[in-house]
Amino acid sequence: MSVIKHVAIIMDGNGRWAKRRVRPRIWGHVRGSSVVSDIVRSADDLGLRALTMYAFSTENWSRPLEEVSTLFRLLRKFIIKEKSRILENNIKFRVIGELQSLPPETVDLINDIETLTSKATGLNLTFAFNYGGRAEILRAVNTFQITNPERLMTEADLNELMYRPETGDVDLMIRTGGEQRISNFLLWQMAYAEMYFTPTKWPDFTSREFCKIIEHVSCRERRFGSVCGQEALNASVERAETNKSAFFQGVVL
Ligand code: IPE
Ligand code: IPE
Ligand code: MG
Repeated sequence: MSVIKHVAIIMDGNGRWAKRRVRPRIWGHVRGSSVVSDIVRSADDLGLRALTMYAFSTENWSRPLEEVSTLFRLLRKFIIKEKSRILENNIKFRVIGELQSLPPETVDLINDIETLTSKATGLNLTFAFNYGGRAEILRAVNTFQITNPERLMTEADLNELMYRPETGDVDLMIRTGGEQRISNFLLWQMAYAEMYFTPTKWPDFTSREFCKIIEHVSCRERRFGSVCGQEALNASVERAETNKSAFFQGVVL
């Protein structure tokens, strides 16, 4: 059994969902946004440590202006509407991405809720907004180069310089909408994530399907490059080091 602690979701399919109903794409986003609260509640009930949701990518700026401004409005609406429930449920809320280029009123709302929930100890809820995985890695590398010009970067350094290091690696990535790609989402954190692609368009996604996916994926065996199950995995880091030194000292030919 694998333990799923951090789930990342690419909420995709809003536009096609609306198109099939002969409605404008933004209607799909509005309907999709009402699903978010249900999934957050389920993640909390399931006792996940972290839930990261992809709401707006750095590439989504290329969409029609009306659509872009709807997505911004929906982020603000979510924060305002869910604020009390987030506080009641001890949820630690953060938005990751290039936030300095967002409108000041959006930034103020984000800062306010992040400050209010900074001491929360429950679910780490993250919205990736104006987010790009490559931009996140580049930002970390550049920051490191400026602050540590004298030494080479390690994996631990890069982990620490991610937007939200405490959420750690992604255990499971779910993408709705039927496409099978990661679209510049959490590239560093998903190195060993399980992937689950569902054809369900985001506005039709339910807590029931979410729980079923987690149950299903929990039965997959994650090997992290080793040969068998969880017990082997626990010992595998140590074994890898022993093997490497035996190999390089010529003990193993
Ligand atoms: C996902 O739905 C939401 C965002 C990208 C913000 P889409 O708008 O990409 O929906 P499709 O993929 O066009 O159906
Ligand atoms: C990914 O969906 C971004 C979000 C869900 C926010 P897209 O619809 O933008 O991705 P592509 O264009 O299909 O890769
Ligand atoms: Mg899409």
